[in-house]
Amino acid sequence: MFALRALLSLLTLQAGFCATLQGRAVDFFNPTAGGGSMLDNAGSGGGEPLNVIISGLSSPDVLTDDGIVNFARAIGFSTECFGVHLGDPQSANLGDGDGWVNQTIELREDYGDADAGTCLESLVGGNHFRVYRQNGPTANSGALFLAVSQEENVSQGHTIAPDGYGIGRDRLVSSAIGKTSFGGVSYTTSAKNLTGLLAPGSNGINHGIATDGITTLLTVTIN
Ligand SMILES: *[C@@H]1O[C@H](CO)[C@@H](O)[C@H](O)[C@H]1NC(C)=O
Ligand SMILES: *[C@@H]1O[C@H](CO)[C@@H](O)[C@H](O)[C@H]1NC(C)=O
Ligand SMILES: *[C@@H]1O[C@H](CO)[C@@H](O)[C@H](O)[C@H]1NC(C)=O
Repeated sequence: MFALRALLSLLTLQAGFCATLQGRAVDFFNPTAGGGSMLDNAGSGGGEPLNVIISGLSSPDVLTDDGIVNFARAIGFSTECFGVHLGDPQSANLGDGDGWVNQTIELREDYGDADAGTCLESLVGGNHFRVYRQNGPTANSGALFLAVSQEENVSQGHTIAPDGYGIGRDRLVSSAIGKTSFGGVSYTTSAKNLTGLLAPGSNGINHGIATDGITTLLTVTIN
């Protein structure tokens, strides 16, 4: 009886341990530790910095495809203009054992109209981000890594604005922090700046745009 109970509690402990490894008990795992990169592959020889991370400790419903779209709407973004992709998808290796994986989704600033606003963004430029999920077998944090950038308008050929990565990140973060809501879901979001994940400067960065090397960690809780 005692042995059985000991065995049972050992099994329970192990299940708890596995849940800790698999079940979003960390903010994120550093991609470079698993052979990945904090720069995505923009297909041009360079990459966009993964400058915002939505923590794996966020409410699990925020970290799903539908969940991130709803949160994005709460902070002024929407899915792309009627599903039309304006460029090739980019890919990232988050060091989670899945290798290079295409972006899950791309969201654009919606200019106050969640349906038609993104079409406006396509014409006038604005903020946008790509989403990559860290959920491979060796680093399953569930965290979302975002490549955020501010684009110039279409007359500028949709290039990234000067300092577009820093501006894009800071604009997204300032609209996210505090209390927001969309579609009947309300969020409380806190932010923390992390250094040491991305190198400051322009080495390897798409379009050679220098950055300050900061990645902002957001923890998003559904109230
Ligand atoms: C990524 O997207 C490109 C372009 O749509 C496609 O050709 C490629 O097969 C995709 N890669 C993966 C791993 O899904
Ligand atoms: C597009 O950008 C150019 C250069 O920054 C600017 O002169 C022009 O007014 C912008 N057009 C729109 C529609 O925002
Ligand atoms: C993070 O760094 C940016 C750029 O220096 C700054 O504007 C922002 O206020 C910082 N955010 C936090 C939460 O410290």
